[in-house]
Amino acid sequence: MAEAGLAPTMDAFGNLFGLPPGSEPCLLLGSHSDSQPEGGWLDGAYGVIAGLEVARATREAGGPPIAVVSFQDEEGRFNPLGGSRVWAGVLSPEEADRATDIAGMTLAEAREALTTFDISEPVPASRFRAFVEMHIEQGPMLDDAGESIAVVENIVGIRGERYRLTGEQNHAGTTPMHLRRDAFQGLAEFAVRLNERLAPVVTPRTVWTIGHATLHPSAASIVPGRAEFTMQWRDAETARLDQMTGIIRETAEAVARERGFGLERWAYAEIPPRLCDARLVEGLAGAAEAVAPGRWRRMTSGALHDAANLVPLMPTAMLFVPSIGGISHSFAEDTSRSDLVLGAHVLACASATI
Ligand code: GLV
Ligand code: MN
Ligand code: MN
Repeated sequence: MAEAGLAPTMDAFGNLFGLPPGSEPCLLLGSHSDSQPEGGWLDGAYGVIAGLEVARATREAGGPPIAVVSFQDEEGRFNPLGGSRVWAGVLSPEEADRATDIAGMTLAEAREALTTFDISEPVPASRFRAFVEMHIEQGPMLDDAGESIAVVENIVGIRGERYRLTGEQNHAGTTPMHLRRDAFQGLAEFAVRLNERLAPVVTPRTVWTIGHATLHPSAASIVPGRAEFTMQWRDAETARLDQMTGIIRETAEAVARERGFGLERWAYAEIPPRLCDARLVEGLAGAAEAVAPGRWRRMTSGALHDAANLVPLMPTAMLFVPSIGGISHSFAEDTSRSDLVLGAHVLACASATI
């Protein structure tokens, strides 16, 4: 950032801004640079680096000042979109600090352990007049269609809850099947029933995931007494998210009741669906058509993005480049070099008109 003529400024939650000289509100580009376990090299980082390159090149060409951001904890080790939610004022610092990672460490403890950075006051949102987040699609649509770029019109909403089913820990050799209260069997039954119960209310784009599960005490010869798991669901419509919430909770309660399990749950995420700014979308569409005529589309983002938190603060939109084979959140994630470069050209072209 410093080499590109930007002043690096990090706030207490690890959001790193590169600010150009001057105080006039400027365009903000960027994304995040944290990753998932076994995450790929482009998710987030591409948007930060493409933004930085456009800011640098624009400055060298004598163009208007452009700022760049790398938000922290987009992937939700502690809080999904945590850095941008705190920065945008939709998550209080106190609440953010209380969140724990899978190992039980709080964000407050993790922040205390970071002593090597200079921390500044948060950069005010009034410093920026618009935000464009460049990202990889992380899905198969562009790659399947042989297209090179997408303009994002809206970003789905997400709900997430953690569940704990408590049965009875016992001996795996001596406990007859009909006397078991096996927490894994409860989790498996919940997953299967849920698919059946959600089927009538979802669309082909609605998704739900049990992405993390642990059994206690997790040994081959012990009937598990406890299953803990995450339940996450996403859709572009708030009404459908609400309907799914009801079905998910009722299904878990029914399985627990019928099998004699204890059931506890905690919400860990609720991020509403967001519409991108219509004028900005048209600006990006014009740049996409100029750089890649006939090889782009408009799209809904099924992935979460920091951009969702900036929508209420300033005109905000996104661009996607293809993900080869639609793979992301995996070491196999990749995008062709030509698409990465084309995406940066579209971003530069659009930035010149915003
Ligand atoms: C972020 O990558 C998400 O969509 O989960
Ligand atoms: Mn990302
Ligand atoms: Mn991600």
